[in-house]
Amino acid sequence: MIQVIKQRHSVRTFEKKEIPLDDEKVIQKIVQESMNEPTPFGTPVKLYFLRNKDAHSPESKKVGMYGYVKHVPAYLTGSTLNTKEGLLDFGFVFEKAILELVKRGFGTVWLSGDFDNEDLENFAREGHVVPVMAPVGYPGYKQSLKERFLRMKQEASDRKKHEELFGLQDFDTPLEKSHPYYDVLELVRLAPSALNKQPWRILVDGDHFHLYLKRTEKFPAQVADSEMINMGIAMRHIMIGLAAMNHTGTIQVDDAAMRPEGLEYVASIHVN
Ligand SMILES: Cc1cc2nc3c(=O)[nH]c(=O)nc-3n(C[C@H](O)[C@H](O)[C@H](O)COP(=O)(O)O)c2cc1C
Repeated sequence: MIQVIKQRHSVRTFEKKEIPLDDEKVIQKIVQESMNEPTPFGTPVKLYFLRNKDAHSPESKKVGMYGYVKHVPAYLTGSTLNTKEGLLDFGFVFEKAILELVKRGFGTVWLSGDFDNEDLENFAREGHVVPVMAPVGYPGYKQSLKERFLRMKQEASDRKKHEELFGLQDFDTPLEKSHPYYDVLELVRLAPSALNKQPWRILVDGDHFHLYLKRTEKFPAQVADSEMINMGIAMRHIMIGLAAMNHTGTIQVDDAAMRPEGLEYVASIHVN
């Protein structure tokens, strides 16, 4: 999975190809397995695989907050409770499904926003939201011009430095490369995030990771808090990093964790 995290990047242009039934079965299995795992805060997160009725439309199409997608054969989407814990659990579960899809050669991208899709209305029960839709298909050989432009813009800033995001006990002390958890945090640095804002700020204190959210001022209003979803993605990447070291982690809210100014404390992971 670590290799998958390192290789993954958002795909917004797909081959003009339907998903054959055999591949749909693979995707459905990923959906089921991702959904069946217990979530850190106990929210039942539901995932759905949808074929795109509009797959053959010739134009690239704006879906979600920004960015254009082209020739999308299908979508992965899902619903959760519209609470902090619900969105953390959603990020945690959905990222697992995304990584499993990438591992099997599918291309995908997280898209958030207010979707104009009649199927989705049935998925969001009272108190629930459908926060993202992720196109699923075979990565297009040629990126569209719009996609290349978006990537160029993103790559200019691409990822923040390790020391900007993470600290040892406080945010003024960077982790040495030799620190056992340096590489675990590197996996968070490579994670996807809405608008590539990388809002994760994490302190390592002994065997604890304390996760904080640095909110972006004037973040576009959305049906659900994408910034909190990003934190669920970070939790998933840390758990994958710990598993690779033969550790497990317990995710919980820790009243003793520092509360640095300007950051929103989210949760902690205690290494076992
Ligand atoms: C919660 C979330 C919401 C996102 N929403 C959108 C979106 O609406 N439109 C889009 O083109 N990309 C969206 N993205 C993809 C990010 O732009 C992308 O992950 C980020 O720029 C980093 O690029 P990479 O995924 O290629 O590493 C979203 C990502 C996340 C995690």
